[in-house]
Amino acid sequence: MQMPMNLLLIYGTTEGQTRKVAAFVADHLAARGHKTRVVSVGDCAAADIDPSAFDAVIVAASIHRGCYQPAVVRYLEQHPAALRARPGAFLSVSLAAAGRAPDDLEGREACVARLSQRTGWTPPMIHHVAGAFRYTAYSPLKRWAMKYIAYRKGGPTDTSRDHELTDWADLARFVDAFLQQIGRGALAGA
Ligand SMILES: Cc1cc2nc3c(=O)[nH]c(=O)nc-3n(C[C@H](O)[C@H](O)[C@H](O)COP(=O)(O)O)c2cc1C
Repeated sequence: MQMPMNLLLIYGTTEGQTRKVAAFVADHLAARGHKTRVVSVGDCAAADIDPSAFDAVIVAASIHRGCYQPAVVRYLEQHPAALRARPGAFLSVSLAAAGRAPDDLEGREACVARLSQRTGWTPPMIHHVAGAFRYTAYSPLKRWAMKYIAYRKGGPTDTSRDHELTDWADLARFVDAFLQQIGRGALAGA
């Protein structure tokens, strides 16, 4: 039985799917007896939250045109030492995570590599989370562009509704693996 931990989950989202991912992870951690402070990088106080106050940190962000939310990048740049000193995991939310084509795999790996290079944080554990097509929330132009991408990739093209590709069971397994690695002392700072 693992000692209860106090975790920080800091996330960035553009259309809301990563917020849903963050809430799911916090609920799963709570079910395992751990406390999680969930913070959006969009909150004005986010920059002041010191990762040193937590046993472990999970960062979640989504990919838009090959980049993560700039506020997530800034947060990582502001706290390099504290992040490196403790167990951490990165949840990369994207549509490439749902693909099996070589360009999907290369594209999502390249995004994480660019983030690490820029911020100096190499997440001890990384999980690629399939996101969602939120057609009903997109502007007409964005809807058209996303439908075209879906058409080319064999994804859902019915724009009258949203399509969630997230594999929640897979995400829960990743969180359990993360907890297991912390318990073994196998991650940075553990
Ligand atoms: C304008 C736009 C650009 C996107 N660009 C990418 C991309 O470059 N690579 C990718 O894998 N997914 C891309 N996506 C898909 C998002 O990562 C996916 O919809 C995710 O669920 C968004 O999460 P969020 O709602 O938390 O922002 C894009 C989505 C939109 C709307």
